[in-house]
Amino acid sequence: MNNEYELKTDLVTFQQRVNQFIEQELKQYSAYHSPLIDAMAYAVLLGGKRVRPFLIYATGRMLGVSLEALDHSAAAMESIHAYSLVHDDLPAMDDDKLRRGKPTCHITFDEATAILAGDSLQTFAFELIAKDPFLTDLQKVKQIQSLAQAAGARGMCLGQSLDLISENKAISLSELELIHRNKTGALIVASVLMGFNLSDYARDEKIKNALECYAKAIGLAFQVQDDILDVIGDTDKIGKTAGSDESLNKSTYPKLLGLEGAMEKAQSLYQTALEALDELPFDTRALKALAHFIIQRES
Ligand code: IPE
Ligand code: IPE
Ligand code: MG
Ligand code: MG
Ligand code: MG
Repeated sequence: MNNEYELKTDLVTFQQRVNQFIEQELKQYSAYHSPLIDAMAYAVLLGGKRVRPFLIYATGRMLGVSLEALDHSAAAMESIHAYSLVHDDLPAMDDDKLRRGKPTCHITFDEATAILAGDSLQTFAFELIAKDPFLTDLQKVKQIQSLAQAAGARGMCLGQSLDLISENKAISLSELELIHRNKTGALIVASVLMGFNLSDYARDEKIKNALECYAKAIGLAFQVQDDILDVIGDTDKIGKTAGSDESLNKSTYPKLLGLEGAMEKAQSLYQTALEALDELPFDTRALKALAHFIIQRES
């Protein structure tokens, strides 16, 4: 890495890398031509910042893991994330019509196909890890465990469920934090850990704790900024309909703390993330730059 760290270069490189990898892996499904495969490709390949793959690649690289050994994990994580978005947009959940600047999966296809595309993206993720030729069986189990735990009823799905039952309700700040840490934070924490798991430091609790502390802070900050963008963002830029939270009467950070308060919260989480990285004897510039990107992004 040069002395001047360029986040943009890594963002583009990792984005292209994971996109090409997913595209190539999905080709193996194209023999079974059906709207289901088209809907999976639509949901996972068309757009997206690829923040979670970035975290897997950047954390792994920082700890000496080769990018090849991170491809399957990065693609698996993005596949789980894409499934979560397809289901999040369904009429039974947020009932949104725009995602990544395009009609949502259930609008372009139909509801049943979108549900099944989400289901298939989820199993695709675990299949990818199971067949990763770069990992030992033990490493595969570790990756599967990290991903499954973060995605399921102790992570993303739990957060989504709490989010839905908290519509039209006044909840406390700690209840809101629990929702956000699960629905969004869990996959972000798992991304950092999946990079870490494959490194030679995988048994070092001190490094793990510092990385977890960083990841928890940016994971929460990510959803705080998402809530902020729902209020001040531009539909064209965010690629989803602005004001969606307000119209569903969702519990959000701007609603509980006001816009200024939410921005201050994001800023203080950013500082926490930086402090956690300062505990580490590695080149943390990519992770620091990503933390900054998360709180100042406009999409
Ligand atoms: C949106 O995630 C949903 C949340 C968890 C807040 P992203 O903002 O990462 O969406 P894409 O992948 O870039 O479209
Ligand atoms: C979604 O939170 C988190 C997920 C697990 C998908 P939001 O419902 O706020 O995400 P957007 O704003 O629709 O992307
Ligand atoms: Mg939602
Ligand atoms: Mg939503
Ligand atoms: Mg949102």
